[in-house]
Amino acid sequence: MESDLTWRGVAIDGWTALALLEWQRELGVDEPMLDAPLDRTDLPPPPKPAPLRPAPPARATAPMIAAEPDHAEILRDAESLAAGAQTLDQLAEAQQDFDGVELKRGARNFVFSDGNPKARVMIIGEAPGEEEDVQGRPFVGRAGQLLDQMFAAIGMGRDTPDAARAIYIGNVLKWRPPGNRRPTADEIALSLPFLRRQVELADPELLVLMGNTPCLAALNREGILRLRGTWTTAFDRPALPMTHPAYLLRNPIAKREAWADLLSLAERLKL
Ligand code: URA
Repeated sequence: MESDLTWRGVAIDGWTALALLEWQRELGVDEPMLDAPLDRTDLPPPPKPAPLRPAPPARATAPMIAAEPDHAEILRDAESLAAGAQTLDQLAEAQQDFDGVELKRGARNFVFSDGNPKARVMIIGEAPGEEEDVQGRPFVGRAGQLLDQMFAAIGMGRDTPDAARAIYIGNVLKWRPPGNRRPTADEIALSLPFLRRQVELADPELLVLMGNTPCLAALNREGILRLRGTWTTAFDRPALPMTHPAYLLRNPIAKREAWADLLSLAERLKL
């Protein structure tokens, strides 16, 4: 079959043109879009995208946690008491004697810590609840039982004598807020010097920040559902924000992510 057809600049006969059409039909081409064929394999390269502009430098964020202006002197008192403690026992005694936090007057017990102070991992929670207030130990209510089960699942526990597999537990606040309400910024700020010193003296390798309040205290950030699972730095050491066990009791579906976070912790510890 004679023809004056070309394909990609090469002269082709009618049989070849038919074979090419048939091949295109088999590929699913069912209607012509343009009068002239467009060889998309032979188009000039697309223009290069504009270079990305560097992100603007991060703006320093004002601390969300601050003592009330008329509590400046009480804050200085807290800082000097905490700095003066040379052991965890001295620190617990100094904080227990500190009268700057109103919560002390309504609480039954001072709740400082539990577990092994030589542990590689320190868990920081929010504040004692009802059961903790009665017993004087952190995380002993329902949320605490779940916390124990979670850590047992990766072979760790508060009663484990082996420091490599033990945990040390503390809270941002050492007295129970009435009705388990969220701690105020002022209460957190006045408790922070003691918490910072508690971390320094226990000197764990890693921290776990359980929920929003410890993230606010240690990172000046909140939004635990965004923060969880991403390692960060708090009190000069690696820290992993996780959802609080009380949240997991209310939202069991979130246990899947909590399990992933525990595995990330176990991997970091090479357990
Ligand atoms: N929730 C906490 O954050 N800490 C406790 O000790 C108990 C419940």
